[in-house]
Amino acid sequence: MRGASYDRFGDESVLQIRDDLPEPPVGPDVVLVRAHAAGVNPVDLAIREGYLAGAYPHHFPITPGWDLAGVVERVGAAVVDFAAGDEVFGYVRRDDVQWGTTAELVPVPQRCLAHKPESLSFAESGALPLAGLTAYQALTEVLHVGEGDRLLVHRASGGVGFFAVQIAVALGAYVIGTASPKNHGFVRDGGAAEVLDYSAGPISAQLREPVDAVFDLVGGDTLADAPKQVRDRARIASIVDTAVLELGGRYVFVRPDQHDLEELGRMADAGQLRVPIAKAFPLEQIADAHRLVAEGHVRGKVVVTLR
Ligand SMILES: NC(=O)c1ccc[n+]([C@@H]2O[C@H](COP(=O)([O-])OP(=O)(O)OC[C@H]3O[C@@H](n4cnc5c(N)ncnc54)[C@H](OP(=O)(O)O)[C@@H]3O)[C@@H](O)[C@H]2O)c1
Repeated sequence: MRGASYDRFGDESVLQIRDDLPEPPVGPDVVLVRAHAAGVNPVDLAIREGYLAGAYPHHFPITPGWDLAGVVERVGAAVVDFAAGDEVFGYVRRDDVQWGTTAELVPVPQRCLAHKPESLSFAESGALPLAGLTAYQALTEVLHVGEGDRLLVHRASGGVGFFAVQIAVALGAYVIGTASPKNHGFVRDGGAAEVLDYSAGPISAQLREPVDAVFDLVGGDTLADAPKQVRDRARIASIVDTAVLELGGRYVFVRPDQHDLEELGRMADAGQLRVPIAKAFPLEQIADAHRLVAEGHVRGKVVVTLR
């Protein structure tokens, strides 16, 4: 099987394209998907560097990638929700790290998968799951964002942040984003009512009044400023810095969820959620895709295409 893989932890140079990867196992509750596109997320780089080796069992050779869109090749005996030929997308976080999404065939536990939104391309669908679910779960389950809430979204020009802006607007919130000036128009196009410049001093000093909820995607000093940005510390959520717990807020770690994926698809098909692709790389250039994400200035999403 053809795909990207690495045999040891390290920088982009460990990534190889191989034609001799083993065929993946397909358990009774697993859907085998022929990959068309795989979004690249910062966590792919962290895993490649070995930073999650203490958190999940890892088995080399590792194929990178947790985001996927493709077509069902075949299903395990107990799978009823999917059939061969279905177009699907998913956040493929298995219990182990080995069978990632940048290979021809990907074994996906069915809890990680949903039918692809009709209005999105494979590239767009493959770039949505991880970042989209992160934003959706943080806003709906933790921050309980609703009609009329004033929400501050940090890092609003990145993958998670741009989805968070759009989802919060769909939930009826008044959204304030943070971004560098070159990205202010982009964030406003996502529906933000105001955009603040993160390089122009503490955000709390730029707000006219404290907001109802803060979604932190930066951590460190930005998170330390959050209690001054919000009315109630319980409505601070961070996805990058567990110090949020000491402030009285919540740390969020995205989980695969079929229902939430379907909801993202519904929002996309309703015209409430766009997936801006900053750049698509063919599989052979996956190292360049990882390098671009590592630079930390992607606007929207980076995706690897396999077909
Ligand atoms: N806990 C979880 O479940 C979870 C899930 C997903 C992601 N994450 C983490 O969340 C973070 C964001 O992920 P992502 O995929 O959204 O990242 P990303 O798309 O790679 O973010 C890039 C964007 O961040 C902007 N940016 C950089 N520093 C900023 C700052 N100090 N303030 C405001 N904007 C800034 C950049 O704009 P400029 O060009 O202006 O710098 C760029 O547009 C990563 O650390 C990732 O590992 C955690």
